[in-house]
Amino acid sequence: MSEHDLENHAFGFSTEQVHAGYQYEKGFGARITPLYLSAGFVFDDFEHARARFAGDDPGYVYSRINNPTNAVVEERLATLEGGVGATLTSSGQAAATVGLLGVLKAGDHVLSAPSIYEGTRALFRGNFSRLGIEVEFVDDPNDLEEWRRKVRPSTRLFFGEAIPNPKNDLIDIAGIAALAHEHGSPFAIDSTIPTPYLLKPIELGADIVIHSTSKFLAGHGNSIGGVVVDAGRFDWAAHPDRYPHLHAPIVGGSAETWIDKFGAKANFAFTRAVVAGRFGTSLSPFNAFLIQQGLETLSLRMERHAANALAVARWLEAQPEIASVDYTGLESNPFHRLALQYLPRGQGSVFAATLSGGQEAAKVVYDALTVFSRMTHIGDVRSMVLHPPTTTHSKLSAEERRKAGIHDGLLRFSVGIEDLDDLLEDLSRAFRTLRGENPPPLRRAADRELTAADGL
Ligand SMILES: Cc1ncc(COP(=O)(O)O)c(C=O)c1O
Repeated sequence: MSEHDLENHAFGFSTEQVHAGYQYEKGFGARITPLYLSAGFVFDDFEHARARFAGDDPGYVYSRINNPTNAVVEERLATLEGGVGATLTSSGQAAATVGLLGVLKAGDHVLSAPSIYEGTRALFRGNFSRLGIEVEFVDDPNDLEEWRRKVRPSTRLFFGEAIPNPKNDLIDIAGIAALAHEHGSPFAIDSTIPTPYLLKPIELGADIVIHSTSKFLAGHGNSIGGVVVDAGRFDWAAHPDRYPHLHAPIVGGSAETWIDKFGAKANFAFTRAVVAGRFGTSLSPFNAFLIQQGLETLSLRMERHAANALAVARWLEAQPEIASVDYTGLESNPFHRLALQYLPRGQGSVFAATLSGGQEAAKVVYDALTVFSRMTHIGDVRSMVLHPPTTTHSKLSAEERRKAGIHDGLLRFSVGIEDLDDLLEDLSRAFRTLRGENPPPLRRAADRELTAADGL
């Protein structure tokens, strides 16, 4: 198939995750985008250098600004999300910083859903507040009237998370996006947990999509990274008073503004060049290479993650020691209907289960698990478990934790792609330990000590 055919054909997700953005590398004909570990790129001559800097020649200049390995991954992620462009960043936190500071300035007000990653909450509290940007949380994100009531003349952005963790308290993405647009604001969403395979926020009206690629996108727990994807649909041109930076000249001495030059891509271009480029949040090409490898199997992994998670959630729900399981794939979950509407391919694999025995019971189960790794990470092929009240959510007050539903007996699970039988066996053993039974330790066959019976 020629390059022309590739450009004009709409492929399915699994084809795009392998091919989108790939540029045939004429040097040695490498089929995988090579790892270009080069800080900068050589200019042929004086005129070539001038043209690269002026943007008249589209080649690469310096890896803080762009890099051929990163460019392929950015194009692939933009394609998978349905955006006009993507900017890789050094972490998911950097993606939130860059994606939001592309829009916001001192004096601006942000309305946010309450259930967000605690690191992002700390970013808002500890840094955005010092920059003069106020982030206000709604109490009930699915009460659109509350969002409407809290809008101020200075509101410039709405924010939320696609599948909040650990409580999985889904938000009405389309409803919030429509409301944001009604008030002349873009809607930015952190879609780390569903990934574009399970959910495409841009199709539902989101304007800026943020991911920690450290999780499911890279998928193998090997690297920290992030990405900001721009939908290219928000009408920045209509709001010179609200987003004046995009209506300002790109360079001194020229009248051409970001809107003039980039039109619908103005926010993408500004965020990439001025915010990511100048804060210097670029991702190492090494990590971009790892993301590329992870993306190639994203759909397969997400299907397996979601199928395993549903089975684990069902198993947990059936245990008498469990008070609640926050997984929207369960029919009993209050967000189940919203999940069927927004997440028909699967409801993700990061959720909470609360033990009625409180912290003591959570501790016993936590310490008894073997296949599940005790870690503060999610979205890895390996299953993982964490006790948020004493770790990720320990900086919240007891009242804040109570309000967020983070009770003392809560454990967060990130279900991996291992064999389901092994995961259930591990959990079953941990619950038997909780019941005071003394189950034999769970060990891989290969780790058994060899005995006479093995022919020694
Ligand atoms: C939903 C979500 N967003 C953002 C982040 C931050 O990503 P990173 O750790 O890559 O900075 C995390 C990390 O756990 C997360 O879970």
